Amino acid sequence: MNSAKSLLIVLVCLIVSSCGQKQESGDNRKLLLKRLDSLQTDLDVLKKQTFPRISVLMNNLGLHHSRLWEPGVKQNWKLSDYEFSKIKESLNDIIVLYGDSLNGNSTIGVEIADLMKEVDKLGNAIKAQSKDDFVSSYKSLTIKCNSCHQKAGFDFYEIIAPKSQAYTTDIE
Ligand code: HEC
Repeated sequence: MNSAKSLLIVLVCLIVSSCGQKQESGDNRKLLLKRLDSLQTDLDVLKKQTFPRISVLMNNLGLHHSRLWEPGVKQNWKLSDYEFSKIKESLNDIIVLYGDSLNGNSTIGVEIADLMKEVDKLGNAIKAQSKDDFVSSYKSLTIKCNSCHQKAGFDFYEIIAPKSQAYTTDIE
């Protein structure tokens, strides 16, 4: 009987101490979650401070888009290819950093995936060294840039092809 009593006492002690442990690990969990939350906030702040803003990346894209026109219509394919690679580079940076951000009812990633079809056509025109294809795909790409700007509510910001004429027979 005595030994049964002491066994009971040991069991009660074990249960009480394990309850205490559970309580403690529950508190630890809460503490860890709180820490994780604050680390996430720190990370978000850090991202904002170190990642280029989307307007900086867009300006980069705009720069290479406008620089590409001249060598394209003058059929300087080497320089065209270089400027084209910079356009792709800027678009990839935008996808990596802002792909999940909302753009109207869509996301930037989805919109850029759509834009890529036009980008690929432009790349093919440069590869094929076809001025006609270059001019037409450059224009379709520019229309796509602007349709995304409209969706984002930036309809006042219109991207245009630089003013120099594509063909000497063009009439302004
Ligand atoms: C995913 C939709 C989307 C596509 C596609 C897109 N843009 Fe933009 N663009 C934006 C948004 C959003 C802004 C406004 C960024 C901001 O200031 O917050 C912007 C702004 C700009 C700006 C102004 C940047 C500034 O703040 O001075 C330029 C230049 C630009 N885009 C060029 C282009 C060109 C060129 C293309 C096509 C090759 C293009 N964009 C395609 C969404 C898009």
